[in-house]
Amino acid sequence: MILQIKHLSVSYKGKDGYVEALKNISFDVKEGEILGIIGESGSGKSTIAFSILDLLPQDCSKKGNVIFKGKDIFKLKNEELEELRGRGMSMVFQEPAATFNPVLSIGYQFRELLLCKLPNLNNEEIEKIITDSLSQVHLAQVERVINSYPHQLSTGQLQRISLSFTIALKPALVVADEPTSSLDVTTESQIINLLKELRKTFSFTIVFITHNLDLVKTLCDRALVLYKGEIREIAQVAQLFAFPKDAYTKSLLEAFRELEET
Ligand SMILES: Nc1ncnc2c1ncn2[C@@H]1O[C@H](COP(=O)(O)OP(=O)(O)OP(=O)(O)O)[C@@H](O)[C@H]1O
Ligand SMILES: [Mg+2]
Repeated sequence: MILQIKHLSVSYKGKDGYVEALKNISFDVKEGEILGIIGESGSGKSTIAFSILDLLPQDCSKKGNVIFKGKDIFKLKNEELEELRGRGMSMVFQEPAATFNPVLSIGYQFRELLLCKLPNLNNEEIEKIITDSLSQVHLAQVERVINSYPHQLSTGQLQRISLSFTIALKPALVVADEPTSSLDVTTESQIINLLKELRKTFSFTIVFITHNLDLVKTLCDRALVLYKGEIREIAQVAQLFAFPKDAYTKSLLEAFRELEET
């Protein structure tokens, strides 16, 4: 088991007291699998993602354990966490722009990341990793991309670049929070194909958060259904789609089928 979430509860501090975002949830992620997390807006999906990387706001209240490769994430020191983020686990965000600094070129940011996370590399090795990783996400004109600033690239290109950052560090676990929902349909399907390919090449374990049940069907091994901060069901994807057990899962699948038919 690469990741274990045990009795995790998270509440955010709001104007009128705490908002309960996760209520005592427990689940495991197996090495090499893609676990889909589905559920309506506000159900707590991103809160799970931020908990795994310990990126929750300081003033939130959290209980329970997130155990990554035997280490309790909430108990780690800052340096240990920094060490883990990037090479142990990494995150792909919904808005690729959130990954990048607008005033620095892609090449500069890529180099900085590698210098920080893989400090033993020499310049030549760094340049090789950068060009290899950008080629692996099928970006044309790698040189141009390296010299570009984020605003000079399309959202689809930026999402490819953020995946190439992930490839360069080869983390054991990738948490992707709706990585394709800011993309148009064609670009989305290209990125999904790329994710499938990368999974085969690098056998990443992926926690894949999405609204799109089609993506869960094509990409994930198991899926977890979240509703108002609680886990309603977790099952193999084929099982979940053919024989949903929970009433909320049934209504979610039903709503999605209706949407597909219109
Ligand atoms: N920083 C925050 N401060 C206060 N409340 C928050 C914060 N972030 C999230 N919440 C609340 O926590 C709950 C869960 O939010 P979360 O973002 O995890 O849901 P989600 O399933 O990712 O939704 P979406 O599909 O819209 O991205 C919601 O009620 C949300 O309003
Ligand atoms: Mg979210």
